[in-house]
Amino acid sequence: MGLFDKLFSKELPLVDMNRIKVDMHSHLVPGIDDGVKDSEESENTIKGLKDLGFQQLITTPHIISDFYKNTFESITEQNKKLNAYLVEKNQPGDMRAAAEYYLDSEFMQLVEQKKLLTLGDSDYVLFELSMIEKPYNLNDVIFKMMLNGYKPILAHPERYAFLAGTLDKYLDLKNRGVLFQVNLMSLVGHYGKGVQKTAELLIDNNLIDFVGTDCHRLRHLPIIEKSLKSKYCHKLVNNFELKNLDLLKH
Ligand SMILES: [Fe+2]
Repeated sequence: MGLFDKLFSKELPLVDMNRIKVDMHSHLVPGIDDGVKDSEESENTIKGLKDLGFQQLITTPHIISDFYKNTFESITEQNKKLNAYLVEKNQPGDMRAAAEYYLDSEFMQLVEQKKLLTLGDSDYVLFELSMIEKPYNLNDVIFKMMLNGYKPILAHPERYAFLAGTLDKYLDLKNRGVLFQVNLMSLVGHYGKGVQKTAELLIDNNLIDFVGTDCHRLRHLPIIEKSLKSKYCHKLVNNFELKNLDLLKH
């Protein structure tokens, strides 16, 4: 974009939120991971996301065996408390909870025991990888997830250094049955220019299945709003069949 275009380009409106409706990636249960710090921040962040047009939220606390030792039971329990708090504050307590699983040995065991928290009532499971190196057993884990009836969704595929910019590696994962969830904030360069470029490459090649905020705190809201007005978010929402609506609770 030249200087002239930059000076005179009009900001796009927010995308049609009816094409998304459900945010399926965030860290809004207070105090159990690196997300919101307390109930008040949780309440205000949830209100902000609803004001932006998200109608339903499925929040996804980290489960990482070395850092965030959350479990199916602890997340469910803490989410119940959050919902009770929201009702107390006159906000509808309709927050659903799942998890963002980090691929480690404990995750492998949970897959085999069929004890994963899935997104809503679906078989979709959100998982993430090391940002730096490819896990040696990635293909094995994907295969085991599929074998046990889960539908794996890779969180923010645009952020992994070992995949970045390489369409072949993404296509290989897709062929193995992995679905991709792009982070909204990647579309405006929040994680750097390289991540933004990879997100654009994935959108240009129709490889994105879900969009999520990955919202960790109140101050992410203005960045999310800007992302929802970005050219690539419009492209994503208007041109392709996003699967976020599969997660609607009726
Ligand atoms: Fe996340």
